[in-house]
Amino acid sequence: MLYDFDKQINRRNTNSLKWEVGENELPMWVADMDFETAPEICAAIRKRAAHGVFGYSTVPEEWYQAYIGWWKRRHDFQMEKDWLIFCTGVVPTISSMVRKLTTPAEKVLVLTPVYNIFFNSILNNGRQVLESRMEYDGETYQINFEDLEQKLSDPQTSMMILCNPHNPVGKIWDRETLGRIGELCWKHHVVVISDEIHCDLTEPGCAYVPFASVSKHCRDNSVTCVAPTKTFNLAGLQTAAVAVPDPVLRHKVRRGLNTDEAAEPNAFAIDAAIAAFTEGEAWLDALRGYILENKKAAAEYIRGQIPQIEVVPSKATYLLWLHCSRMVGFAAEAAEYMREKTGLYLSAGNRFGAGGGDFLRMNIACPRAVLEDGLCRLKEGIAAYEEFAVNRC
Ligand SMILES: Cc1ncc(COP(=O)(O)O)c(C=O)c1O
Repeated sequence: MLYDFDKQINRRNTNSLKWEVGENELPMWVADMDFETAPEICAAIRKRAAHGVFGYSTVPEEWYQAYIGWWKRRHDFQMEKDWLIFCTGVVPTISSMVRKLTTPAEKVLVLTPVYNIFFNSILNNGRQVLESRMEYDGETYQINFEDLEQKLSDPQTSMMILCNPHNPVGKIWDRETLGRIGELCWKHHVVVISDEIHCDLTEPGCAYVPFASVSKHCRDNSVTCVAPTKTFNLAGLQTAAVAVPDPVLRHKVRRGLNTDEAAEPNAFAIDAAIAAFTEGEAWLDALRGYILENKKAAAEYIRGQIPQIEVVPSKATYLLWLHCSRMVGFAAEAAEYMREKTGLYLSAGNRFGAGGGDFLRMNIACPRAVLEDGLCRLKEGIAAYEEFAVNRC
């Protein structure tokens, strides 16, 4: 195999947020993969490091062309150079836009359950979270458009943050759904932030649809957040971009990012992004295949061994959204109990807002042997928790 995703790398004592856990603990929570990134990216970083001078950086033409080329080749979407602004991360950018594009106490709409840090970006800036809860029919999630429109039409609602594809449920939004969201937001003057950080981590053969590609209204009323960081496991390098087709909106976003000092690259951010988007395709395709096999293995194991839990079918992300539908007790309590008893560290679904209470989120972007360890702990942990929950009654 050209790339060895089975290789286990010890990440303890590397100041890893994910791996700052107890000796016997196995972290499968935060969206951070346990794989080495693409060798081409490692080479670009080594080359930059070897230079030995790490002064302030600028954003060269190659960086713009790398993003434009990738979206054209991989996603059949033509971005323009003018649209793109470098930023140090998707979350800092969303927080900056919340401050710049809305006013205190206004409402920001999210489709829940959703990536929990959106709540921080909204609440920490003194705005209100407005949740439109998605409906789960046991197979897939759907938007309740009646509820969505009613909430978007609230004059206090000025922004919607869309997760495309959607973390944690792993859904790829189709063109028609995105178009409907786009029309409603346009009609009610609600700006759309489309967080597309997971867009490259789709199942082989499945494409995502860039929100801005859907229609003129979608394009002119949106800011798209993109990055190589989820795809290539580079979150610690702080390298991302926003694409803002509308010039007036772009001016505001740029001013916000500059005011917040979130628009200047560190010494490795540019070279890593260029290497990723110009040389990373073969690695990414191999990774997507590996993740798919991990997903299949996990789904099969859970189906056979842990019937209290159902894996929500998904086409994107390396996060499993586990429905504890037949489990005795409460998912959040089970997560805590399981961590204590087996060391398996998952995210409790209630962190992701309304509708997340009966779920757990499990990151399966790890070598197969680690996944197998995690699945055994999950089985053991759920059984132990259920016994505890039953005996308590
Ligand atoms: C939907 C989504 N947006 C943003 C981020 C984080 O982005 P960044 O590290 O660029 O701030 C994550 C990380 O898990 C995520 O899942």
